[in-house]
Amino acid sequence: MRKIILLSLILVVGIGYISAQLPAYKNKELSPEERANDLISRMTLDEKVAQMQCVWRGEPGKKALFPNGEFDAEAARKLLPNSIGSIARINEDMGPGAVGAHPTLPPGEAARQYNKVQKYFIEETRLGIPVLIHEEGLHGQQATEATSFPAPIGLASSWNEDLIHDIYSIVAKEIRYRGGSQVLAPVVDVVRDPRWGRTEETMGEDPFLISRLGVAQVKAYQGDGIYLDGDHVGATLKHFGVHGQSEGGSNTAPSNIDERTAREVFFKPFQACIKEARPMNIMVTYNELWGIPAHANKKLLKDILRDDFGFKGVVVSDYYGIGNLVDIDKVTPSKEEAGYLAFKAGVDIELPDYFGYQHLVALVKEGKITESEIDEKVKRILIEKFRLGLFDHPYVNADKAEQFVGCEANREVAYKAAAESMVLLKNEKDFLPLNNEEIKTIAFIGPNADRCILGGYSSSPKQCISPLQAIREKYGDKMNILYAEGCRITDVNSPFPEVIRLVPREDNDVRIAEALKVAKQADVVVLFVGSNEAVAREAYGPTAPGDMPTLELLNGQNELIEQIVALGKPTCAFVKSGQPLSIGKLTKELPAVMQCWFLGQEGGYAMVDALFGDINPSGKLPITFPRSAGHIPSYYAYKPSSRRGYNLGLDVTPLFPFGYGLSYTTFEYSNLKISSSTITKEDSVEVSVDVTNTGSRRGAEVVQLYIRDEYSSVTRPVKELKGFEKLWLEPGQTQTVTFVITPDLLAFYDGNMNWVVEPGDFSIMVGTSSDNVENLKLSVTN
Ligand code: BGC
Repeated sequence: MRKIILLSLILVVGIGYISAQLPAYKNKELSPEERANDLISRMTLDEKVAQMQCVWRGEPGKKALFPNGEFDAEAARKLLPNSIGSIARINEDMGPGAVGAHPTLPPGEAARQYNKVQKYFIEETRLGIPVLIHEEGLHGQQATEATSFPAPIGLASSWNEDLIHDIYSIVAKEIRYRGGSQVLAPVVDVVRDPRWGRTEETMGEDPFLISRLGVAQVKAYQGDGIYLDGDHVGATLKHFGVHGQSEGGSNTAPSNIDERTAREVFFKPFQACIKEARPMNIMVTYNELWGIPAHANKKLLKDILRDDFGFKGVVVSDYYGIGNLVDIDKVTPSKEEAGYLAFKAGVDIELPDYFGYQHLVALVKEGKITESEIDEKVKRILIEKFRLGLFDHPYVNADKAEQFVGCEANREVAYKAAAESMVLLKNEKDFLPLNNEEIKTIAFIGPNADRCILGGYSSSPKQCISPLQAIREKYGDKMNILYAEGCRITDVNSPFPEVIRLVPREDNDVRIAEALKVAKQADVVVLFVGSNEAVAREAYGPTAPGDMPTLELLNGQNELIEQIVALGKPTCAFVKSGQPLSIGKLTKELPAVMQCWFLGQEGGYAMVDALFGDINPSGKLPITFPRSAGHIPSYYAYKPSSRRGYNLGLDVTPLFPFGYGLSYTTFEYSNLKISSSTITKEDSVEVSVDVTNTGSRRGAEVVQLYIRDEYSSVTRPVKELKGFEKLWLEPGQTQTVTFVITPDLLAFYDGNMNWVVEPGDFSIMVGTSSDNVENLKLSVTN
């Protein structure tokens, strides 16, 4: 017994002695802040500045650190004498081992490479500060074999926060298991000009919907502890401030938005995510706002983001955003000055390579910035590294990465996501679903019939199925399946090639003629039209355009549709696109049209299952469909003085309104009531409605709540979404939905930019889409 006591004593004293020797920053018992303070006190100025830098393709880029794809510790020692804060997408472009459309190492290899790199930083740099690896994860990691979910504009059509949480919990793990610890997502930009190629990356036009889904995403990425476990990554909200309504829908053009609209609309999702989910990072947008590029905009990044919104995390530049101050925005000819401007404005980390921030040490020496200003930024970066657990559990398990990335269970979630992303736009006389028992010959026709379109920020998932492959797989022995491309939109379909050309019209005439021959033999024709990821994509460089001056179906598709319709065969269409397209003619002439966006790796199966009724579509539009590009702006939350109409009697209403979407079943609303029709400014009130599935299939309805302030001291939109709930109902089932209207949902910025509720009348609207609601009145008194 005595021996045991003695041994325990030695152990306790021993542990005490070891922890006394441990620098405070290595002590897991301390808070991230305490650890960061201790670490900063040990760092040289050069080491601090290195934490604010990243390497990718510049000088010294990953090529030099990973000759032939293998990490070279000697090169790192020489090229990074002060270590480095971040490395961009470590397993991407890694020599001959990298495979896929966006070439990366396979998951296990990536994890092994990451461990090797991290071991170097932890064991062989002076202070052992781990390196942070960031990755793209817009709708799945942009890496080989990673599960690819629908593009965000599709996911937003689900109006399903739980689904979003499930999806991004998977994305977090797939990224973390192969070594990434920061994800450059979610995109919470509000889009008000669908000509913008990045529309597909967004969750649509409504700040409330984007806020709810954005919060769900950030929570899924980060979990909710101070210290994250090995299943989570740090999120990066992007792109702050206004990216989604730039001049002409042109990606990096100025955002000519007044401060009120910026705050009421575009900043709202950022603010909600900061308040409710505490994202670790925010990325700055390329666009200028109020005449100053966001990367040099102190009012935006300090006064609003930090002081008003209370953001405590790290502000990262967009790729080359600081360089753009010189090369594009022309606010200075000097790289050093660009670094100075971004530094002073509030950028903490420059991505992806050295440009402005290589001059920070010089700027301190010249007395233009102080070391304590540097400390403030570095502290935020180190806190993030501590919170991510990079000091305490830095390594990953390659076997786990191999087993989890792209696994069957993740595929199932990708399928569910595709199922809930589709929006049924028209279904005259219950044309859909088709009865597979009755069809002898079916023709799949169109440029997107045999394509699995993933959209931007994708790589090569383990599998990716086109609708044609899916129907052949599922019904190949039951019916005769015919196919014709009908027309081809672009010469290449990938989001990556710089130059995209429309294929020559003559070639498409041949394809149309061929398609007509095929269609004539079929009982039913299904058209797969729309656009692709080469047409709808980020305009990521001056030589890589991605925005569109038109929303028309391109390159022979309208002729194809017209000629197929003229055959008089039963025909419907599935539209794959990243933006709402001008599909007025299509929807007028065909009895059934399904909006499919880019549905991810399981999209082919989902479309075929929706065609035959194994999936009951439940999506609702997260963005208005204008009749044409000339009808932009088309967002539903416009001001009362807007949308007076066009000359020549042209219709000013949208083709399909925000919130719209049909189902194979029907829903009835009844018993709409409000708990009190008069309240004071401080009160809340309940609104409830019964929803019944009146059809014969199980289906989902998204019940939507809109509010309008009837008269107000500053102008207010004609309606704004303030609540929604998605219900799954069996045939005949009724459920009551209750919304609580709190003062915050009635408030707005008054003339002095105070957040107030003004007494007066409000319309409370509940319904199935923004243009199909029932009204109640609410009076608010002082
Ligand atoms: C985009 C960012 C993205 C970055 C790196 C930029 O062009 O604006 O959203 O994270 O590229 O891929």
